[in-house]
Amino acid sequence: MTGFPSERLRRTRATPAWRRLVRETRPAPEQLVLPLFVREDSAEPVPISSMPGVVQHSLDSLKAELHRAAEAGIGGVMLFGIPTHKDAEGSGATDPGGILNVATRIAATEVGDALVVQTDLCLDEFTDHGHCGVLDARGRVDNDATLVRYRDMALAQAEAGSHLLGLSGMMDGQTAEVRTALDAAGHADVALLGYAAKYASAFYGPFREAVQSSLEGDRRTYQLDPANRREGAREIAFDVAEGADIVMVKPAMSYLDVLADAAASSPVQVWAYQVSGEYAMIEAAAAHGWIDRERAVDESVTSIFRAGADAVLTYWALELAARLSGR
Ligand code: PBG
Repeated sequence: MTGFPSERLRRTRATPAWRRLVRETRPAPEQLVLPLFVREDSAEPVPISSMPGVVQHSLDSLKAELHRAAEAGIGGVMLFGIPTHKDAEGSGATDPGGILNVATRIAATEVGDALVVQTDLCLDEFTDHGHCGVLDARGRVDNDATLVRYRDMALAQAEAGSHLLGLSGMMDGQTAEVRTALDAAGHADVALLGYAAKYASAFYGPFREAVQSSLEGDRRTYQLDPANRREGAREIAFDVAEGADIVMVKPAMSYLDVLADAAASSPVQVWAYQVSGEYAMIEAAAAHGWIDRERAVDESVTSIFRAGADAVLTYWALELAARLSGR
C-alpha cells in the first residue's frame, strides 16, 4: 500500500506497559540533592513565602528533615546558613560557631553515613552588602581578596565535617585556591563541587528572600551572561583543570543546552541546580490551577536528567524520591 507509513512510532507508546519499558530517562532518588536553609536563633521553622513548602529551618527542624532525607534515600543535602549578624567581610562564614558550620556539624554527625553532606561556599549569605565576595575601596567585588576568605571558609566547612564544598561564588581561581588550602591542611578527602557555569539569573529571585539577602544591584560582574554558551564551556574546563570533582550548571531549565554540552564533554560528573525561581514558577502556576503540578514537577526534573545531568539539586527532592520509589 502506498501513502501509509511503514515506520510507526506509536506502536511502542500504545500502553503504559510499553511506555514504561522503552522509557529512556529514569531518575533515581539517590541522584537527588535537597537544598536546606538553616536560620540562626530561630526556635521554629519560618516559611518562605515565595517558595511555598520550603522553610528556613531551626536547628531542631533541620535535624528532623535530615532524617527524613536519609529515610527517603536521596543522595545528599546542600546546606545554606542564614546568620543573624552580617558584616562586610562575612565573618559568620568562617566562625566555627557560625550557623552554617554548626548546621554542618549536626548533619555530619546525624546523617553523615547515609548522605553526602554538602555546604554552600559563598559569602553572600554572610555579607551585609549581599555580594558573594568582599569589596574593594571603590565598592567592586575584589576577586583575590575574596579568595583569601574562601580558603578560610573552606577550612571551616571541612573542619565542621562537610563532605563536598559547593563553590558557588564565581570568583576566578576559586577551585584551585580552595583545593590547595584543603590539601595543605590535611583535608585532601574533602571533595569540590565547582559551580562552573553559574549564570546571572533572574531565577534566583526567591532565594534572596530565603536567605534574607541585602543585595542591591546584581552579580553580573562575576556570574555568567545568560547569552553565553561558549563561555560556560570554558568555565567548566577551567574548573575541571583546577581540580573540581564535580561541576555544576545553574540554573537548570533555561540552560539545558549548556548542560548537554557539558555532559557530552566533561570528564567529571555534571550536576544541575533547579533553582528557587524554577520551583516558584511551577508552584505558582499550579496554585492557580493553570498546570498539573505533579506532572509539571516530574517533567521539569526529567528534562534536566534527559539533558545529561548526573544528579540534580531540587527543592522537590523528597517529594520526587517518594514518587520514584513508589511510596
Ligand atoms: C550563592 C547561591 C545562590 C544560589 C545558590 N547559591 C544565589 C545567587 O547566586 O544569587 C541560588 C539558589 C536558588 O535560587 O535556588 N550563595
